[in-house]
Amino acid sequence: MKKNILVTGGAGYVGSHASKVLYKAGYNPITIDSLSTGWSDSVKFGPFEQVDLLDLKKLNEVFLKHKPSSIMHFAALSQVEESIIEPEKYWRNNLIGSLNLLETAVNHKCLDFVFSSTCAIYGDQDSVIINENTPQKPKNPYSSSKRAVEEMIHHYSISKGLKYVIFRYFNVAGADTDCEIGEFHNPETHLIPLVLDAVSGKRQHIKIFGTDYKTFDGTCIRDYVHVSDIAEAHLLGLKWLNRGEASRVYNLGTGHGFSVREVIKCVEKVTNENVSVLECNRRFGDCSQLVSSSSLANKELGWTPIRSNLDQIITDAWRWHQNGFYSK
Ligand code: UFG
Repeated sequence: MKKNILVTGGAGYVGSHASKVLYKAGYNPITIDSLSTGWSDSVKFGPFEQVDLLDLKKLNEVFLKHKPSSIMHFAALSQVEESIIEPEKYWRNNLIGSLNLLETAVNHKCLDFVFSSTCAIYGDQDSVIINENTPQKPKNPYSSSKRAVEEMIHHYSISKGLKYVIFRYFNVAGADTDCEIGEFHNPETHLIPLVLDAVSGKRQHIKIFGTDYKTFDGTCIRDYVHVSDIAEAHLLGLKWLNRGEASRVYNLGTGHGFSVREVIKCVEKVTNENVSVLECNRRFGDCSQLVSSSSLANKELGWTPIRSNLDQIITDAWRWHQNGFYSK
């Protein structure tokens, strides 16, 4: 019989791609999502329960009904700027929602837990390449809430028998190769979909937030990882836990950073269109450079990103941009 895996936030960008990978690997992904930011159209690979993690009673009912054997926890609010303006929303949703999930998981003896964390917890760093031991300096309520959830998970592992794999991903981008699912945020804040909007005429130009960073061309540098590679890592993390291995934290990056200007140039190359650029002030809460080694995930999980070169990421994102859409 197929194993049921609870996927919180399975109607969101990364959660839906992870659900597809689970489904293809022979699992039954059970999506729970409040649809506050996710899309029901993206739940294509297993049952769907519209539940908010803040609703402890309904959450318990989902566990009783589906009896999941493991959990992948993606559900979270994730806009840095919004988190600065409305910190209470982030602490309530991300922290209390995760606490409810942990409590329910432990009550139901569902103890293998994969968590979606973020490189944003590292904040501004002097080191060029970040690794899992780089000191953390979260710069905004969003990243602080993610770090707090990491700590909470760790405490549950010490006293309640929970086992975890935490993934700190760098900048997730791209879309499903079959174009069944893709990136669709409302409002959109991420660089690659916004540059594609500028190409397709949905926006007049792309704003570059900051040209005075201490980087080679003055713009921020990020490590872009294909969403399908991130999803594959979750499957490997799940198998790692199901084999009885120890709890772990892994960075998911490629070791290569690209500046905002380089990303725009790559979009121009892939789409064969020119992009109009507007140079603006820095965006509050941004770090100048976030690039990671993923040697630990490679060594222990055997994770190798295979679609994460920038051309491929943008090619897949562009295909999705032209062909895919969701409606509530
Ligand atoms: N940028 C622009 N113009 C835009 C949008 C973005 O210049 O219109 C710049 C940003 O300033 C940043 C880079 O492009 O330097 C990437 O920005 P994104 O918004 O695409 O991604 P972030 O690095 O800010 O953060 C994203 C998510 C976070 C997550 C982080 C790491 O928003 O939730 O990736 O995964 F924590």
